[in-house]
Amino acid sequence: MGRKIGFVRTPASRSRRGDASTQNLEYLICSRHDEEMKLSKRLAEIVEALPVKPGHRILEIGCGPGAAARALSEKVSKGHIVGIDRSAKAIALAEKSCRDEIASGRLSFRKVAIENFELTKGEKKFDLIFAVRVGALDGRHPEAGELALEVIRKVLAPGGRVFIDGGKPLKELKVNS
Ligand SMILES: C[S@@+](CC[C@H](N)C(=O)[O-])C[C@H]1O[C@@H](n2cnc3c(N)ncnc32)[C@H](O)[C@@H]1O
Repeated sequence: MGRKIGFVRTPASRSRRGDASTQNLEYLICSRHDEEMKLSKRLAEIVEALPVKPGHRILEIGCGPGAAARALSEKVSKGHIVGIDRSAKAIALAEKSCRDEIASGRLSFRKVAIENFELTKGEKKFDLIFAVRVGALDGRHPEAGELALEVIRKVLAPGGRVFIDGGKPLKELKVNS
């Protein structure tokens, strides 16, 4: 008798933050669309649309293999991009393919979900925060979204701005109530 292969539904509490295999599967699904580390037309448009200024500190949530963060690092002379992703595989790939930009001090990556993200001691808040195709920010996972917004409010600099995809090509989230 052949074995059935299919998806297993995980409990809501587990899927909300995701265990390691869920997170890596999610990353693999996204990385299939974006061939390796190339900046796709879709991401190039997003990078172009972000109101980046030299010296900005930028946080990318769900950076995947880091293509957008790497392109942005070219635009922030004396600034810095932090790319975060909850998938260890995504962060390993991003670090491997962005060695020069990381060495220049303009780019760094951290393996962490936005819900658990914290500034390090003495670290400045972010002028710009953005996320592309990340369920916690685009309404697909409302509970994770609430936690994510709490964190974003804490780490956003006064006057800072937050963008997600789904506009033309971006839309702004007004996070300060
Ligand atoms: C569909 S991929 C998009 C990657 C990239 N932003 C792009 O547009 O090509 C979503 C990425 O977000 C990450 N991710 C999903 N939820 C996250 C969360 N709550 N915090 C941090 N990363 C998350 C996944 O691991 C995955 O790498």
